Amino acid sequence: MKILLVNGPNLKLLGTREPTIYGSETLEQIVKKVCDTALTKGVQITAFQSDDEAALISAIGAARGVYEGIIINPAAYTHTSVGLRDAISACGVPTVEVHLSNTHKREAFRHVSLTAPVCVGQIMGFGSKGYLLAIDALIGDH
Ligand code: DQA
Repeated sequence: MKILLVNGPNLKLLGTREPTIYGSETLEQIVKKVCDTALTKGVQITAFQSDDEAALISAIGAARGVYEGIIINPAAYTHTSVGLRDAISACGVPTVEVHLSNTHKREAFRHVSLTAPVCVGQIMGFGSKGYLLAIDALIGDH
């Protein structure tokens, strides 16, 4: 099984970015952990991060027929991007949305996700463990 792991804007700053909210692991460390865990389950991960909404949309648009699942942390675009939502919906690949923080405990503008309604499900508030839980969710879905 092949899964595309997509991380959105500012997530490359993990490690130093507001560690009390997002933890102290770097994105590189998280991606390695996800890839290693996935491999033990026979899952191959391709990881992609971009700050660019168009690049994220293109990556999702190209996923059909290549990946059986997508794990995405759309970061700030969660709350703003109809384009990303439409890309997830259009590609038809089962997608799990992950957030490191529990966005419902935070500012009101983070309480709405435009992307979650077109995902299989959403995992939030468990730090980087959420990405690992998402692997199991997609294996179950497959
Ligand atoms: C985030 C939550 C978003 O509200 C925020 O814009 C992020 C990270 C999270 O993983 O908790 O950049 O997606």
